[in-house]
Amino acid sequence: MRPNIYIKDLPNHIGEEVTLKGWLFNQRSSGKVKFLILRDGTGYIQCIVFKGNVSEEVFENAGKLTQESSFEITGKVKKEDRALGGVELDATDVKIVSIAEEYPITKKEHGTEFLIDNRHLWLRSKKQVAIMRIRHRVVKAIRDFFDDRGFTLFDPPIITPNACEGTSTLFEFDYFDLGKAYLTQSGQLYAEAGAMALGKVYTFGPTFRAEKSKTRRHLTEFWMVEPEMAYFNLDDDMDLAEEFLEYIVQTVLSERKEDLEILERDVTKLETVKRPFPRISYDEAVEILKKNGVDFEWGNDLGATDETIISSQYDRPVMVHRYPSEVKAFYMKRDPENPKVALAVDVLAPEGYGEIIGGSQREDDIELLISRIKEHNLPQSFFEWYLDLRRFGSVPHSGFGLGLERTVSWICGIDHLREAIPFPRMIYRNTP
Ligand code: 4AD
Ligand code: MG
Repeated sequence: MRPNIYIKDLPNHIGEEVTLKGWLFNQRSSGKVKFLILRDGTGYIQCIVFKGNVSEEVFENAGKLTQESSFEITGKVKKEDRALGGVELDATDVKIVSIAEEYPITKKEHGTEFLIDNRHLWLRSKKQVAIMRIRHRVVKAIRDFFDDRGFTLFDPPIITPNACEGTSTLFEFDYFDLGKAYLTQSGQLYAEAGAMALGKVYTFGPTFRAEKSKTRRHLTEFWMVEPEMAYFNLDDDMDLAEEFLEYIVQTVLSERKEDLEILERDVTKLETVKRPFPRISYDEAVEILKKNGVDFEWGNDLGATDETIISSQYDRPVMVHRYPSEVKAFYMKRDPENPKVALAVDVLAPEGYGEIIGGSQREDDIELLISRIKEHNLPQSFFEWYLDLRRFGSVPHSGFGLGLERTVSWICGIDHLREAIPFPRMIYRNTP
């Protein structure tokens, strides 16, 4: 059997006879000619079935194809500058694989609820395909970035005995005779063990938050990548985060141009994502809010609208560091120069996309860490293994977590996280 030929490779096959396999995206006919738009997952091509060039049976077959019917088509590849993709196919044969029933997603506008109910079919649409391809490229960029810089991929467990990011968003279930267990909120605590073994590690996988809020930025199941580095302080952490984001965005810009075009993304907003990024303290962020008429009290966490006001001052992501420790996680190290604030950083994406990275230097002093665990009412017994990392050769270390879907949404310019993952899970949605 000859290997399959895909639409994206057709410019290398001009003048050749090929067989393409896919689905009917659209068609129109005028008397003696049928124009079939075939899609195969790699692209779209117009196929011309001319009555005079094919048998009667083949011409009839072409007429039977409904939207999303699967078929194979053979013909000669023709250069056609006006066509999408620069090529067309002059068909000589059409083989029906399966005639589709009346397809629910048509050219007319559909409501989002309807589309999301049909997510398994919606994924075939042009824009959704473009988003999935960009997501894939972002994942590859993430892995390449860390693999090329001496990091080891380190897979944490999904089933965990304790909280990492606060107890209010835990998914809880019964774990045999051992009592309650939880779906992981973050692989970080395990990544810290990895960093003490391997120096620089990253975790990358699904994480879970029982988010009770119904916002366009929250999923209950999302993917997070978390690098963790021994002997890194907060400044080193910010340097890495900045280089990382620049790499991801510039890679997608150069390698997924056509997909960004399909999404009608204003790429000038991404071209500016270059180092150095502005770095401001939480205190400076509060000043910006006050100047913009926000009645903001020092000590509160930044809300979504606050983040939008701050990020709108800049044409690239902004790093906000040294948040009040009260609003941050138990493991974050306090600033020795001002114990009221934690050595934390959030990276806010431009254009109102909000926090895409959260990170910090970790508390490396065992006594301070124990008191923080107590203050947060966390069961110390479950954290003994974590405290061991401070008992046996504690070192300064830092890391951060990047939310994959928030990053993909921002790069694609889409307004809801649900389109950035194949099958979104949200408070009111766990199907299809
Ligand atoms: O700021 P978060 O909660 O940080 C952590 O989990 C740390 N343990 C990371 C670390 O230092 N290793 O989450 C990190 C990122 C956020 O900036 C956001 O991009 C994403 O994860 N995120 C979510 N994405 C989608 N839906 C949710 N419910 C999210 N919660 C966090
Ligand atoms: Mg955060």
